[in-house]
Amino acid sequence: MTISIKEAYMELEEPEFRVLRVIEKWLPKYEYVPAEIIEKHSRLPPSRLSRSLRKLGELKLIKRSLGTLIGYTLTYMGLDVLALRGLVVRGIIEDIGEKIGVGKEGEVYLGVSPTGEWVVVKFHREGRRTFKHLRRTRSYMANATRGQWLLKAKMLGEREFKILVELSGRGARVPKPVGWNRNAVVLVYLEGVELYRFKDLDGKSAERVLWDVLETIKIAYRDVGVVHGDLSEYNVLVVEEDGEYRGYVIDWPQYVYKDEEHADELLKRDVYYIVRFFKRKLGANVDEDEALSFIKGESG
Ligand SMILES: Nc1ncnc2c1ncn2[C@@H]1O[C@H](COP(=O)(O)OP(=O)(O)OP(=O)(O)O)[C@@H](O)[C@H]1O
Ligand SMILES: [Mg+2]
Repeated sequence: MTISIKEAYMELEEPEFRVLRVIEKWLPKYEYVPAEIIEKHSRLPPSRLSRSLRKLGELKLIKRSLGTLIGYTLTYMGLDVLALRGLVVRGIIEDIGEKIGVGKEGEVYLGVSPTGEWVVVKFHREGRRTFKHLRRTRSYMANATRGQWLLKAKMLGEREFKILVELSGRGARVPKPVGWNRNAVVLVYLEGVELYRFKDLDGKSAERVLWDVLETIKIAYRDVGVVHGDLSEYNVLVVEEDGEYRGYVIDWPQYVYKDEEHADELLKRDVYYIVRFFKRKLGANVDEDEALSFIKGESG
């Protein structure tokens, strides 16, 4: 049986969070954090500590080493509940609800902010997709080793949050970032439908949505200096605003800077792909090369 991040979270009390935090803190040094270190730094009575470790193990938030030395490591879910705790304690969210979006890698949940606004909480995984692509572009963490998954996942949370601050600050049509903690990023919820599921767009509405997307890609490229790198019908949300369909571009953590190797190829791939999707599936009448030169500022 697999339980949700929220269900696991609800089972925990402060001592369990304390144990998780100690393991997290020492993980960059150890593959499995030795039991003595957990004992020393969690400062829990032995019986409470063993109860906490048992519970965390049952909930699959930690994993015990198979070797002779007793030690523990976090699972992704262990990191997720710590991030969730951080978000709640810092007042970034008040509650977490249903899981939304059928995730290949990330886990995306609906949540509520302290002011009652709907938000989404996205828990990053290290991301095969993201890192395959980043290795190819010899980007900022090409040489990271397997054991650094924890730092990588956390870095993705920060990375997505910060780029969304830049993008939304410059008027790009992206979800507004609310906050982040560890591998989790919180965004304003957009009540819309992913483009791939959208059936009843007429040609004119389709072009409106496409230009929203192109405009956003242009702001990203020209004003922020980045390329999305994974633009597709899965990462465009169509939202109804004042009786009109409008497009938003989501899912930015794999972005690359425009002066990085392959950035131009990626931009071209992104633009050609999305323009062709709109042409083929939705009857939009826009030329790929014109769209590309619009973004690069060679026209428009
Ligand atoms: N701000 C948002 N408002 C509404 N829904 C969102 C928002 N952000 C993400 N979603 C939903 O969550 C899904 C996954 O989000 P996103 O594309 O950012 O993550 P992902 O890394 O692609 O996840 P995965 O690869 O697991 O699908 C989206 O397809 C969408 O349904
Ligand atoms: Mg996506």
